[in-house]
Amino acid sequence: MRAADEQKKWPDNPLLQGGWAPVHEEVAADNLKIIGKLPADLEGMLVRNGPNPQFPPKQNYHLFEGDGMIHGVRLRDGKASYRNRWVRTAAWQEERKANKTLYPSLLDPIDLTFFGKQLLAGKSPFANRANTALIWHHGKLLALWEGGAPHEIKVPGLETVGEYNFGGELKHACTAHPKVDPRTGEMMFHAYPVAPLQSNVVYSVADRKGKIIHTTKIKLPRPVMMHDLAITKKFTLFLDVPFVLDSAGLMRGNPLYKWEPKYGARIGVLPRLAAGDKVRWFEIKPGFVFHVFNAFEDGDEVNLYGCRYPSFPDFITFNPKVLNGKGAEIAKKDRPVAYRWQLNLKTGKTTEGPLDDFDCEFPRIEERFAGAKNRYGYGLSGGNAQLGFNSLVKFDFAKERNDRHDLGKNRESGEGVFVRRKDGKNEDDGYLISFVYDHAERQSELAIIDCRDFKKAVVARVLMPQRVPNGFHGTWLDDDVL
Ligand SMILES: [Fe+2]
Repeated sequence: MRAADEQKKWPDNPLLQGGWAPVHEEVAADNLKIIGKLPADLEGMLVRNGPNPQFPPKQNYHLFEGDGMIHGVRLRDGKASYRNRWVRTAAWQEERKANKTLYPSLLDPIDLTFFGKQLLAGKSPFANRANTALIWHHGKLLALWEGGAPHEIKVPGLETVGEYNFGGELKHACTAHPKVDPRTGEMMFHAYPVAPLQSNVVYSVADRKGKIIHTTKIKLPRPVMMHDLAITKKFTLFLDVPFVLDSAGLMRGNPLYKWEPKYGARIGVLPRLAAGDKVRWFEIKPGFVFHVFNAFEDGDEVNLYGCRYPSFPDFITFNPKVLNGKGAEIAKKDRPVAYRWQLNLKTGKTTEGPLDDFDCEFPRIEERFAGAKNRYGYGLSGGNAQLGFNSLVKFDFAKERNDRHDLGKNRESGEGVFVRRKDGKNEDDGYLISFVYDHAERQSELAIIDCRDFKKAVVARVLMPQRVPNGFHGTWLDDDVL
């Protein structure tokens, strides 16, 4: 519990309250209370990343800039245990020593003195908070952030090893959404322009042992935000959507990126190990995409499934200047839907359209199908302006239908992670696992849904020993790697 005088320092901001309020303790607890029965064929650990600032912000606060905290729930022998750990980034350590927040927010008026001081010291003016996602590759758990290097995390203890640069070979940032080809073990990842004077995407491939075997630049006509990428067996896909870095606007105190639909939008298709100038662009309708489900080749076509917003969702700026008290209204207007793009490699034509008309974000699939034709996708729905979601959805892409799992009153879910049953045969032979928060009970739990019977009540609810704040992305670690 925070001391009363400390509470006063935390600003009145919905992204620092309710489900998003940070926790201040790192705890470890065994033998958690379980309602229902843990499936015997589900052993391993769910790890999830998210923003959890250790100190109140200097002025403003953006959800993307809280210190990364990893929450882990291990399931084994019918029992469950929990632990949470901050990622000890350089910024976390500097601020721990200073006992306060040192870095300004993206939403603060630009502080040229701070920028100058950081750059002179050879440091970035933006802190790598390692707060966005987690990926398991070449025997390492990596905590990821949008504009910097990954941080290596030990398992199962979740201690921070430090920034990870692939044996000195990583020459660019690694965004939060690399994709791993389960057939070859290769990992594809990119960096996009996050600061003035940058305009290229840089793309790399690491082999199954973590050796970077390919790095190339992809020229863009203008610098845009590119949060995710997609892979097929042969290609890597890049989403050039017109959310454009606005250096001039930044100096005037505007958000770093600006929605500019007049520039159009494109999907780039590049053979996995080709030079960046071999990318082939397909025109699409302007729209914004944070996340994709999957992509795959099907005859002459490349299919991409993702969640598309009609324009950049202004509520995600969390900028009072932009929202002007209309956050909820804007969130409703800018809602994302599940969407398919079909790119014909023969004709160069694109066919595209929504899969349904309800909101959907945080798309996931059974990762063994990454890059290959698959049938099922999972996402969150029933979202509000604070990124709270009251239901989970299972899409059947083949039958173009969906099943919805409603969580009930006052309950919200984070991203659902698919975990296959140990001897699972079909693509949906597994569980969807997510952190759920009950606002009335003020209780967090890990909810386990059987994907073969998606609408049915959860198989088990694991009650957490303290609230698990809302967060972003996670992954499942099988027991044999722990
Ligand atoms: Fe993301």
